[in-house]
Amino acid sequence: MQNSKQDFFETVAKKSDGAQLRGDYTNVSSDYVVQQNWDAYTPEEHALWRRLYQRQAELLPGRACDEFIDSLNALNASDGIPHFDTTSEALFKATGWRIVAVPGLIPEQEFFTHLANRRFPVTVWLRTPEEFDYIVEPDVFHDYFGHVPLLFNPIFADHIQEYGKGGLKAMQLGGLEQLARLYWYTIEFGLVQSPQGLRVYGAGILSSGGELKYCLEPSKSRHILLNVERCMRTLFKIDSYQETYFVIRNFKQLFGDTAPDFTPLYERIKQQDLLSADTLLPDEIELIQN
Ligand code: PHE
Ligand code: FE
Repeated sequence: MQNSKQDFFETVAKKSDGAQLRGDYTNVSSDYVVQQNWDAYTPEEHALWRRLYQRQAELLPGRACDEFIDSLNALNASDGIPHFDTTSEALFKATGWRIVAVPGLIPEQEFFTHLANRRFPVTVWLRTPEEFDYIVEPDVFHDYFGHVPLLFNPIFADHIQEYGKGGLKAMQLGGLEQLARLYWYTIEFGLVQSPQGLRVYGAGILSSGGELKYCLEPSKSRHILLNVERCMRTLFKIDSYQETYFVIRNFKQLFGDTAPDFTPLYERIKQQDLLSADTLLPDEIELIQN
């Protein structure tokens, strides 16, 4: 345990140019779970949550998908940082998922294991007021506001569990980077069609003040239909708005398209060139007309 924790911190430091994780990892259990310690949040933190919530809530109509908006409203989380236990109980009744508190990013193995067992890890700490518009590491606002509402949707809930199982498998197959690109462009930055036009279901967009507007407006970014193999070959940027958004028809399609065994896919992609984030292939159609 002690050793693997050390390995994790070293890997993070290497990947992020020496940066340290900012959560408190001293009291984690073997699966990196901690207590939320709700009483320790300050009035200032609850006030910052309300401001974050309010800004996003105003942007949701006409941009977020209906499933997200309906579940978010049912959570009644606008008044302050929510109690995870209360949410967890409601979520368990709805789809058999629970949320667990974590100090921040956790190692892949533990992350995937939680998802595969229908437990969604939510970071306990909130960003600072200076990070109102942009934050590098996921905080409680991103994890809770962005991810938790769609876990109330049965198809999406099943999809995330399958993704967790697929992650454990990808670790064995050397497919983690490919799978991470799929996660990035779907669960974090995905768009979905609706009779009224494109809508957002990706948590990274839903918790971002700027990108929630940007991603649905005509811009130099691409908005193209999701093709799993193409998506897994596409590099992404973590420090700017996305240059490509992949669009699904509905959650059922996402579930179906990701259900096949990815083993041969990983092998095939390893033989191919990766694509830059702003690629548009000859047969691809931009879905937002300028
Ligand atoms: N079907 C994938 C595999 O065989 C697993 C997976 C499911 C991955 C859903 C992502 C999302 O590895
Ligand atoms: Fe996220």
